[in-house]
This record gives sequence, structure tokens and C-alpha cells, in this order.
Amino acid sequence: MSLEDVKLIKLPKILDERGNLSFLEQNAQAPFEIRRVYWIYDVPGGEERGGHSYFVNEEVIVALSGSFDVVLNDGHSQQTFSLNRSYYGLYVPAGIWRQMNNFSTNSLAFILASTDFDEKDYERDFNKFREDGKYL
Ligand code: TYD
Repeated sequence: MSLEDVKLIKLPKILDERGNLSFLEQNAQAPFEIRRVYWIYDVPGGEERGGHSYFVNEEVIVALSGSFDVVLNDGHSQQTFSLNRSYYGLYVPAGIWRQMNNFSTNSLAFILASTDFDEKDYERDFNKFREDGKYL
């Protein structure tokens, strides 16, 4: 996979004086069946998350609250996506190295994933990721 396969998806936004509503459905806004969700919160200032790629798992990352940056690398080039709106989802296919940083206070990263959790699906060695290159 390359950075060209990454997509910033604008989610539906139902405007209402009572407050806005957005949603995301599998095989629609998320281009896969949603198998698992998890969320990252209470990130201390200056901390980084991620530092891995997946072999199979695909994800959509939403900044439900606050803001953070998602730094993506396909082994050739790098691109940073600043997420700060709850009506955008960042689609990250398998085979893309990612880091998350610049978390604002009280930020909440909500992540929809296509597979069950499996530590064997992680590549946590950036050099191996680059050498592997089978997704490039
Ligand atoms: P990890 O995916 O490395 O976090 P991040 O990419 O956000 O920095 O996961 C951190 C720890 O949490 C690791 O020990 C695995 C565990 N974990 C689960 O048990 N289930 C899950 O669904 C996820 C995403 C992580």
C-alpha cells in the first residue's frame, strides 16, 4: 500500500440547533467491516502513540474530541494528517507505518478496526517494515 491509498473521509454531519450528529457505517464511510473499536485518551503532553504498521488490519481514525497528528509513512514518503474535527475519519490501509503525536489536552482518538486484536499482525520494527516493502 502507498500513501495514495490513504483517504481523509468527510463523514455525514447532521446540523441541528440541539447539537450536531455524525455517523460512520461499515462498508460505507468505513471501507471495511468493523470488527473492533478502541480509543486512546488521557495521553500525557508530548507522548507519542503508534510506531508500527499492520500486516492485515485496516483502520479509520477519528478525533472525537480535541486534536492530534497522525504521521503516515509508506516506506518512500511521509505525510502528516492533523485531525481536529469529529466529522472526519482518516482511513489507513494495512502496510502503512504510523505514529500519532501532538495530542491536545483531553483529546480522544476513536479507532475503528477491521480485525480482532492480534499482536502478530503488528510490525514494530521500522527497518524491517522498509526492508519488507511487500506492500509498496
Ligand atoms: P498499541 O496498538 O501498540 O497502541 P498504539 O498503537 O495506540 O500506541 O497497543 C498498546 C497495547 O494495548 C498493546 O499491549 C496491545 C494492547 N491492545 C489490546 O490489547 N487490544 C487492542 O485492541 C489494542 C489496539 C491494543
